[in-house]
Amino acid sequence: MSKLAIIGGKAVRDANKLWPRWPIHEERDVKLMADITRSDRWSYDGPHEWDFARAFAQNQDAKHGLCCANGTVAIQLALEALDIGAYDEVIVPGMTWQATAAAVLDVNAVPILTDVEPDTWCIDADAIEAAITKRTKAVIIVHLYGAMSDIARIRRICKKHGLYLIEDCAHQHGAFWKGKGVGSFGDIGCFSFQESKVLSSGEGGFNTTQNKRLFERLYSLRNCGRGWMDNMKHAVQSGNYRLTEWQAGMLMCGLKRLDRQTKLRDSNAQYLNKKLAKIPGILVMRRRKEITRASYFNFAFRLDWKQIPAKGLTNSHFCLSLVAELNGAWEPPYEPLNNCGLYKPHTKRRHKIDPNYWKQINPKRFKLPVCKDAHGKSGVAVHHHVLMGTKSDMDDIVNAVAKTVEHIDELKKAPKATLDKYRALVD
Ligand SMILES: Cc1ncc(COP(=O)(O)O)c(C=O)c1O
Repeated sequence: MSKLAIIGGKAVRDANKLWPRWPIHEERDVKLMADITRSDRWSYDGPHEWDFARAFAQNQDAKHGLCCANGTVAIQLALEALDIGAYDEVIVPGMTWQATAAAVLDVNAVPILTDVEPDTWCIDADAIEAAITKRTKAVIIVHLYGAMSDIARIRRICKKHGLYLIEDCAHQHGAFWKGKGVGSFGDIGCFSFQESKVLSSGEGGFNTTQNKRLFERLYSLRNCGRGWMDNMKHAVQSGNYRLTEWQAGMLMCGLKRLDRQTKLRDSNAQYLNKKLAKIPGILVMRRRKEITRASYFNFAFRLDWKQIPAKGLTNSHFCLSLVAELNGAWEPPYEPLNNCGLYKPHTKRRHKIDPNYWKQINPKRFKLPVCKDAHGKSGVAVHHHVLMGTKSDMDDIVNAVAKTVEHIDELKKAPKATLDKYRALVD
């Protein structure tokens, strides 16, 4: 194979060969948007919203489902519906989008950042057990990228200690555990429909639950406190966290494509994992045997630097080589929340409810060695749209990874300016 593209060699993939686009739409989506615009029903509780809410809840095997403004709000509403508030402790994984922990702060509770499993990057059940105190009220699990948390064991832990279980399924629409949809295992499931997600309306969120009382409470909380079906009789204090008919219409259109797209992504991911596993130094992510359909927000793998001897290089260099070879956004996984540029509890005065609380929400007090290693050393990730390509596209990925491993010494020669140029393409 020729030298690495990052030092001027021929790239594995021609720069004109485009990856599948995301988000995608069909002409019937455009027509529906026009129809909704012409109708006199634009806001909440409209026919498109309820059609979608019923269909998506059913898709995830949940008895009840409810749309809301976004995935962050979905977590906040879940916590409020479970009556979690000031000083309660909520266990969350240290590797996730900051919203999982930020929503806990937004209800004045304390996020307890907990380390993850090295081979799934999902919360470590042993670490959950070790973090439980008298003040723990709930555990939020995140089924991260294409992996799933150990649902069965974590449910047992929650049951034993009387804790609520919230599933953050922002990455996992259409994923199944033993044939049953995610979001149906915890007390409440939370989804995001932000643009990058596998089901999207630009922005948007969703809650699932099996419990009618929790559903009614979620309804009130997202709708200015109005009671379910009785408007003022059972009103509670809350704000407006609703979404619009256009968003619900787009979501219904996307839901019709979701199954086909999820199958394609899962099949391509399994194809990639099989081939990447044969490359020395590449560790594929663990797929739990209970997973009957994986849904990928990102595809990821790990580098075993013991097998790729290259002093001074990290996953970040490796990702930049893949950007140069493949022309896609290859990046390390999320920053650990104890050292994350977008998780800064001490920058908001609202969180200064007292000095003790202020101390407890300091993210630096948590140790997250596995998250640190994944972000800073071993993890490689890419957005799911690449998984919507052909088998030949997947072969390009395998070839680029193999080439980078084989020519790892050349990567050390890449000038800083070149690395910065490729970094700018991803940022
Ligand atoms: C794991 C996770 N949880 C929650 C969220 C928040 O969703 P939203 O951006 O819709 O607020 C995201 C968004 O990226 C996410 O990745």
